[in-house]
Amino acid sequence: MNLRNKKILITGGAGFIGSHVVRFMVKKYPGYEIYNLDALTYAGNLANLKDIENNPNYHFIKGDIRDRKLIDRIFEEFGFTHIIHLAAESHVDRSIENPSAFVETNVMGTVHLLDAALKHWNNKDGHLFYHVSTDEVYGSLGPTGKFKENTPYDPHSPYSASKAASDHFVRAYYHTYNLPTVISNCSNNYGPYQFPEKLIPLIINNILHKNPLPVYGDGSNIRDWLYVEDHVKAIDLIFHRGKSGETYNIGGDNEWRNIDLVEKLCEITDELLGRQPAGQSKKLIRFVKDRAGHDWRYAIDNSKLKSELGWQPEMDFETGLRKTVKWYLNNHEWLQNVTSGKYREYYDKMYKNRLA
Ligand code: NAD
Ligand code: TYD
Repeated sequence: MNLRNKKILITGGAGFIGSHVVRFMVKKYPGYEIYNLDALTYAGNLANLKDIENNPNYHFIKGDIRDRKLIDRIFEEFGFTHIIHLAAESHVDRSIENPSAFVETNVMGTVHLLDAALKHWNNKDGHLFYHVSTDEVYGSLGPTGKFKENTPYDPHSPYSASKAASDHFVRAYYHTYNLPTVISNCSNNYGPYQFPEKLIPLIINNILHKNPLPVYGDGSNIRDWLYVEDHVKAIDLIFHRGKSGETYNIGGDNEWRNIDLVEKLCEITDELLGRQPAGQSKKLIRFVKDRAGHDWRYAIDNSKLKSELGWQPEMDFETGLRKTVKWYLNNHEWLQNVTSGKYREYYDKMYKNRLA
């Protein structure tokens, strides 16, 4: 493998997963030039990359993937050879409020990037367009079964519909124009730097402030949780060794009912805060109005990734959750900054009726 002359455009690198991908690639491959394109929406934050911002192989470009001209211009200017595409509107609840923002960024933004790659990569060798996607494109499971790579797409939320559409476009460009592409569909990530609109950091933040802990519906919905660094290691493997035109499912073999997870977070967070008896925050739990169209269960068959590329999830859940809670407790300023200003407005709007 040639470790030099890769000029990798990573989109959404200031977000949760993107910042972990950028940090990992910048550190592990000093011979690569890493360009982080991010519009810095509410979910993007350059503080997530403070520790690597001065690395000589790291470059930040503030820009929006909805801006076709800008995408074309930066391709001309920097001559990217590879793309790892993560930029997206990523939150299901927000997609229910405003679906078109998800179409514009997730669908149109992806098509703009595909078009630019097609235009600039005359000789297709030595290039790759990697689309980072979600297991939510497969829809919802009952009590048994797992999503496989050939499970038919059946997205239910505007978010998952937009990710499904973007996956379809990536595949269409592979089949129609021979653009070298790869897609991975991953389950729910958790870890440091996740914006506190998603379940785990939202619950940690609310426990800290002794605010109600909103559990949608009866709390029986099941998600498969994966530590973000395990996702990043999978992305690294797929980026370097995945086969063009293929899809890889990524999941943690780690299914939890939401209510059990929230209770676990109460125990760990109370303990780390020194609140006695640990677990007392469970009394803050409120079962609230369910999310519209709430998918009941996600579970991933990750056997292809394991057998073909030798990947394994490494972080056990108890350790990963403790690490995550500790990170939020030790990074009070980060949490304070991202929950000031517009966040309050968002929170009040989302939860006013639910918690009433
Ligand atoms: P995130 O919301 O934390 O970050 C998204 C990033 O994209 C932000 O930095 C934001 O500023 C940027 N962005 C948004 N719109 C943009 C635009 N129009 N132009 C340029 N940048 C823009 O999201 P995340 O949780 O880190 O997810 C990253 C990717 O991984 C997404 O594509 C998501 O669908 C996928 N994914 C997420 C999970 C998960 O559990 N979070 C699981 C599987 C797949
Ligand atoms: P979330 O983190 O939004 O991820 P996704 O919907 O993409 O899986 O939600 C995870 C689960 O937690 C999901 O079943 C919805 C539920 N949930 C709550 O019960 N309360 C909350 O406040 C949030 C944000 C989510």
